[in-house]
Amino acid sequence: MADRLDQVKSLISSHPDFPKPGILFRDIFPVFRNPKVFRHLIDLLCEHVKTAVPKAEVIIGLESRGFLFGPMMAEQLGIAFAPVRKAGKLPGKCRSVSYSLEYGTDKFEIQDESVKPGQSVVIVDDLLATGGTMKAAVELLEGLGAKVDECLVVIELKDLNGKAKVTKPFHSLIHY
Ligand code: PRP
Ligand code: HPA
Repeated sequence: MADRLDQVKSLISSHPDFPKPGILFRDIFPVFRNPKVFRHLIDLLCEHVKTAVPKAEVIIGLESRGFLFGPMMAEQLGIAFAPVRKAGKLPGKCRSVSYSLEYGTDKFEIQDESVKPGQSVVIVDDLLATGGTMKAAVELLEGLGAKVDECLVVIELKDLNGKAKVTKPFHSLIHY
């Protein structure tokens, strides 16, 4: 039987020219159709965090696909979860930052109460492409005084060199 990571990898599908010509889109959703492999993915992410950032206090999930993993990881690790969302969706006092994407621009927000100054956070997303999204999230968290101890993604698209934009420890489970 293939190891757990190979099982996850085998379920990630590739779609040429989606959502625009020239983009090879890696789709993580087939993993969620197989609960056993989805469980392996969450376990692998949590095992990594326990080793790399044993004192992590908050998992930060990036809209939207960071929300697929972040809360489950936080629950399994017994720590807090907080979302970073597209602008205009979070109530209360928020910080915001604009960023550019592989195919467009966007604006992210976080609620000021999501983390306390000095807290150790791990930022989680499904995928790193150009790195603009992760860079914006790091800026938001540092603006709140958090310690970004790791940026963690399931998939890294190496050709786009997004890692160069991430100034914090970075880890990907799968790369193309
Ligand atoms: C995708 C992906 C990452 C981001 C990576 O999200 O889920 O969050 O792009 O791109 P980057 O490294 O070039 O910044 P998207 O912005 O498409 O948002 P969605 O998940 O809400 O559809
Ligand atoms: N897959 C999913 N999300 C993405 C991708 C991709 O290949 N590129 C940028 N965001």
